[in-house]
Amino acid sequence: MSNLAETSNRRRTHEELLAEHRATLGARRMRYGFFAQLLFRGMDLLYGSRPSFQKFKVLEIVARVPYQAWEVIGYVAITHTSADQYFARRIFDRVRESRVQQDNEQWHLLILEELIERKKLRVNFFLHIVVPQALAFAYYYLSWLLYAVRPDLSYLLNAELEDHAEHEYAQFVLDHPELESEPFHSAFEADYGSFGSLADLFRQIGYDERTHKLESLAHIENARFR
Ligand SMILES: [Fe+2]
Ligand SMILES: [Fe+2]
Repeated sequence: MSNLAETSNRRRTHEELLAEHRATLGARRMRYGFFAQLLFRGMDLLYGSRPSFQKFKVLEIVARVPYQAWEVIGYVAITHTSADQYFARRIFDRVRESRVQQDNEQWHLLILEELIERKKLRVNFFLHIVVPQALAFAYYYLSWLLYAVRPDLSYLLNAELEDHAEHEYAQFVLDHPELESEPFHSAFEADYGSFGSLADLFRQIGYDERTHKLESLAHIENARFR
C-alpha cells in the first residue's frame, strides 16, 4: 500500500486541517478533460453550481466506482498472472490500495447520508437516488473500459474527479462559516475519526480527496501492470 494512503488515514489536528484547507484554496484546479467536464457540468445543471450536502452525496456515490472497477480488473489480472509470484504481488498491492480508497469514499458517503438525514434535508427520489445510480453505472463502465485499454487515462480522469472534489469541499467550508460551530457527532466516528466541528470534518474529507488525487497522479507514469 502506498505511503500516501497511510498518511491520509492519520487524523489531523485543527491547526493541521486549517493549513491543509489554506493549501487547497491557494492551489489551482487541474485542467479538466472532456469526460470530467461533462460530469461536472451535468451535475451543476441537476444540482446547482454551488456545493451542498445533497450534491456531495451524489459526488461520493460516483467517486467510489473507479476504485471498484480497478479492483475488479486487478483481480482478473492476478488470476491470469499468478504463475509469476512477484508480478501477482505487485498487482495485489494495487488492488489493496483501491480497496482502502474505496472504503475511505464509503465513509464519506455514509457520513453525508447521516448528515442529510439528521438535518432533514429534502431528498428527491429521482434526482438524489435514481440519477446518481445511473451516473455511477455509466462512470463505472467508463473507468473500467479506460483502465483496460489506457489505464493512464483512467488514473488521470480519477485525479480530475478528486481534484474537483477537493476544491468543492474547500469552497463549501469557506462559504459556510456556521459550520465552525456545528459539532460533529456520528455513528461512524470510531471508523472515520472525531472532529471538533463540521468545518473540520469537511476539511479532512477535502484532504482525503487530495490524497486520492495524488495517488492517481503517481500511478499515471507506470499505469500498466508490470
Ligand atoms: Fe470522497
Ligand atoms: Fe476521493
